Amino acid sequence: MIINSNFGNVKETYLFVEIARRVSDYRAANPTADIIRLGIGDVTQPLPQAAIRALHEAVDEMARAETFRGYGPEQGYDFLREAIAEHDYRARGCDIEADEIFVSDGAKSDTANFADLFGKGNIIGISNPVYPVYLDSNVLAGHSGQPAGDGYENIRYLDCLPENDFKPQIPDGRLDIVYLCSPNNPSGVVLTRDDLKKWVDYALENKTLILFDAAYERYIRDNTLPHSIYEIPDARKVAVEFRSFSKTAGFTGLRCAYTVVPKTLEVTVSTGNKPLKLHSMWLRRQTTKFNGVPYIVQRAAAALYTREGQEQIGRIIDIYLENARTIRKVFEEKGLRVWGGENSPYVWLKVPGGMTSWEFFDHLLDRYHIVGTPGSGFGTMGEGYFRLTGFGSPEKTAEAVERLRMG
Ligand SMILES: Cc1ncc(COP(=O)(O)O)c(C=O)c1O
Repeated sequence: MIINSNFGNVKETYLFVEIARRVSDYRAANPTADIIRLGIGDVTQPLPQAAIRALHEAVDEMARAETFRGYGPEQGYDFLREAIAEHDYRARGCDIEADEIFVSDGAKSDTANFADLFGKGNIIGISNPVYPVYLDSNVLAGHSGQPAGDGYENIRYLDCLPENDFKPQIPDGRLDIVYLCSPNNPSGVVLTRDDLKKWVDYALENKTLILFDAAYERYIRDNTLPHSIYEIPDARKVAVEFRSFSKTAGFTGLRCAYTVVPKTLEVTVSTGNKPLKLHSMWLRRQTTKFNGVPYIVQRAAAALYTREGQEQIGRIIDIYLENARTIRKVFEEKGLRVWGGENSPYVWLKVPGGMTSWEFFDHLLDRYHIVGTPGSGFGTMGEGYFRLTGFGSPEKTAEAVERLRMG
């Protein structure tokens, strides 16, 4: 048996395992401590009623021979693709057609699976710190090249530093592919129109493909900030966009997301003479390896685009944003430097007193019985920083904030 030896190259972070171990040790030693988790990346509010109703109706359809559905189109049902194109794009002035939308079971799978479209040897830009899936999926596919120093041969880390407001900067050299994530996990920072324009210009000039992860787009409340990379002229020529209903509408367990691959997006192949369309490649990849999202789930997702669905989503996101805002505020009051917490569910802070991220983890747990996520788990540049999230319940979050304020 010859196995994929790249599995040996992926760095184990043990982040969530280590968090669980420290919390359980602490609990064993302090059985009466009321521990509040502000580190989770999962949502806590139930699904919007519009989605629940659509699910029930769709289940009933599945129960009758006349309305039963078996395999659906791999790319998603037209009713959902149309709703997405209309509400998420055309309503914001973005020229995106329904057949450029590929419905899927998650932005995690899509961002990772997109690596299937490329060969080995590309130079890949990845922010540091960032959502770890971009790097790990490239390592598993063998696209990162061999480990080298702190990183890998073909990976160019785009260090996100406080002096640049934690935004990835345009590199000096050429990248074949760059992953951008806005609003960002973990820093909560949102790229402005100017920031995105610089990346689109860079991509046009350097023939770079932008893989834009907008999983937290719905948290943007500042009207001057872009929700989609396609708000930037010519982005259709250089960018793929990933979105998800997970954090937008509580679909983390239900599973539904989508990826936009414009038909105008072409890549120049180093060995070939004619450019290739990523749209037809992604279609081929999905039809070969994926059999679609359940009909009932797509019905639930489509119901989010009704007026009732939109209002319900808005109210849920208000809760998480308010949680994040209060977390941000209490740390600011304590004199810490804080990013995110507005237009984003994530709050990112500079750990005080020269502590490491893990030392601060222990400090928060011990002193306030609060659990967060050490920034070092998101990349080397996250050391000395810490992530908290607004995804907890309003009651628990308020209680945690009160403890921090009093302590
Ligand atoms: C930046 C980012 N992209 C994608 C995902 C995954 O989303 P999904 O639940 O759709 O797989 C997450 C989840 O935490 C994320 O933080």
